[in-house]
Amino acid sequence: MPRTLILYATTEGHTARIAERIAQVLRERGHAVEAHPADATPVGLNPAAYDGVIVGASIHYGRHPGYLRALVRGHRTALAKQPGAFFSVSLSAGGPGAKPEAARRYLETFLRQVGWRPQQTATVAGALQYSKYGVFKRLLMRMFVGVTGGDTDTSRDYEYTDWDAVERFADAFARRMKQA
Ligand SMILES: Cc1cc2nc3c(=O)[nH]c(=O)nc-3n(C[C@H](O)[C@H](O)[C@H](O)COP(=O)(O)O)c2cc1C
Repeated sequence: MPRTLILYATTEGHTARIAERIAQVLRERGHAVEAHPADATPVGLNPAAYDGVIVGASIHYGRHPGYLRALVRGHRTALAKQPGAFFSVSLSAGGPGAKPEAARRYLETFLRQVGWRPQQTATVAGALQYSKYGVFKRLLMRMFVGVTGGDTDTSRDYEYTDWDAVERFADAFARRMKQA
């Protein structure tokens, strides 16, 4: 049974949901999957002990979190030897006012900074979760998405994720690991 590690970095919880969907698909394909938030990994976590690793993170203020950069960078030698995948979650990746080239830039910048070249990458459209933001963040996000033609009704949340694409991403990773 292939052992797969999923590390994710989330602020409002949406990337955790995407990681969980990927884990579910991999379990259906017979993988033993461990999914951990990257800011609370178990002591002594060793990516080299797994057969494959998937990392996912959301974008806030134009970047992926520094703690994830440090974690991935610290394990880059082990990661280079395994099947690996990275997905980057943002509003630039999909939804109204999306800027796919910006989403791709976020992803490429992160991988360049950490020195990791996973075989599989994806930008994934995230969510606008006004109900989870405090007053300041809600106002800021409303202004931010308003400028780009996004959804500004703060009385509700919006989800732009293409779940079928997420499942295809997981499925492709399962096939890659089978070949490895
Ligand atoms: C304060 C804040 C800043 C954000 N900055 C960006 C950004 O610079 N570019 C972008 O494409 N998306 C941005 N987003 C959108 C998030 O990437 C999106 O909401 C994502 O679903 C968050 O995932 P999470 O819940 O896992 O943290 C921002 C969201 C928030 C709340």
